[in-house]
Amino acid sequence: MPTKVVLGAQWGDEGKAKVVDYLTMGADLVVRYQGGANAGHTVKVGDTTFVFHMIPSGIMHPGTVCVVGNGVVVDPEALLQEADELQTKGISTAGRLFISHHAHVVMPYHKLLDQLAEVGRGSDKIGTTGRGIGPCYRDKVERGQGVRVVDMLDPEHLRQRLQVVITAKNELLRRLYDHAPLEAAPIIESYLGYAERLRPYIADTSLLLNEALDQGKTVLCEGAQGTLLDIDHGTYPFVTSSNTTAGGACTGTGIGPTRIDQIIGVTKAYTTRVGNGPFPTELLDQTGERIREVGHEYGATTGRSRRCGWFDAPILRLSARINGLTSLALTRLDVLDTFPQLKLCTGYQLEDRVLNDFPLDPRALEKCVPIYEEVEGWNTPTTEVRRFGDLPAPARHYVERIAQLSRTPISLISVGPERDSTIEV
Ligand code: GDP
Ligand code: IMO
Ligand code: MG
Repeated sequence: MPTKVVLGAQWGDEGKAKVVDYLTMGADLVVRYQGGANAGHTVKVGDTTFVFHMIPSGIMHPGTVCVVGNGVVVDPEALLQEADELQTKGISTAGRLFISHHAHVVMPYHKLLDQLAEVGRGSDKIGTTGRGIGPCYRDKVERGQGVRVVDMLDPEHLRQRLQVVITAKNELLRRLYDHAPLEAAPIIESYLGYAERLRPYIADTSLLLNEALDQGKTVLCEGAQGTLLDIDHGTYPFVTSSNTTAGGACTGTGIGPTRIDQIIGVTKAYTTRVGNGPFPTELLDQTGERIREVGHEYGATTGRSRRCGWFDAPILRLSARINGLTSLALTRLDVLDTFPQLKLCTGYQLEDRVLNDFPLDPRALEKCVPIYEEVEGWNTPTTEVRRFGDLPAPARHYVERIAQLSRTPISLISVGPERDSTIEV
């Protein structure tokens, strides 16, 4: 199968990176297609744990080419820091990391504007990661002040462009926030330095990817965030600013939809969310606390504690529909090993109506009460299990119910953060 997409089926942090790293064993290229350094993708190989914000999670496999696609907003500082860290661990990015000409560049004023906008929203704040994602995508869509990777190829052009844009941003900062101006010279100097270092990586990545496919190579598209954080299909306005869903893999890489063969939705065996916004199955009690503690549910980018709740099937049905999922990768089953009883949300009660589908009206969503099916826990460690048939019967039943309720087959089960803690179904 030449092109596979791996994406988040919930609100992010589903374990996409673990699944991407695992599936990279059968892939020649791995490409990120949207988002930026808001992503925190954790890969654990042996004693080494890496959290990637910018570089695709396939980089730990020495023969794999990694691509940052045009749909990504590139934070050069974060990217180069990751490349340097990899180098200290003996992993080179030279000749095997490529960045799209057309990707937009995150600037310090994007981060500042992200943070100032959040303060301005007061109690309605989104709870962004503060990585400048929204303001960078806004500049891209608005068109006047976007800076692209291609602008980094010519130092004189970059210097002039940044001078103009920083002057305009300072005016915005003054008028909107009464904020002191940013000093242009140090920003320009540091970005000229980043440009120098990024130059060898810059490429026409759509051409590179399509030529690789023509040669029979396999491409893995790595999603960031999750379906319910999608700008169009998620819980707007509590979303990110990109298309996290399957269509984003095409627009964000320049690979046509007819070349995509599999779309794998990654879902936890329960649900988590970081940041604000509705979350029908959220557990604000000791059980939620226990999931957080057992699962170490703290954000890989901001360290914030993740909100935890039961598995929500209407969310997965929405995800299956919007993404056209061909299968699910179910992660973190092991986190539920010690829970005597588990609950699966099968639908919602909205006043006198039963809803099977996730409601898209945020005000209705706020009023939805989950309808639960209670199932038996298994009280047995699963981390060492490698075959589906070796899972305890209640765990098999739990997994099968998730597949039925999501109307999607499960192709992979993860029972630990390590590469080999994986069951192929
Ligand atoms: P991503 O953003 O979707 O790549 O996920 P994160 O890296 O933000 O968070 C997932 C966390 O779960 C990481 O710490 C992973 O190492 C860990 N993880 C992934 N799969 C499993 C699993 O099956 N079991 C356990 N216990 N941890 C897992
Ligand atoms: P990965 O790829 C979980 C959330 C933020 C906030 C909202 C908007 O690791 O799964 P943004 O900074 O994008 O403007 O924030 O989206 N968010 C994530 N939540 N995992 C992520 O990435 C996220 N990236 C952004 O918490 O609610
Ligand atoms: Mg994450």
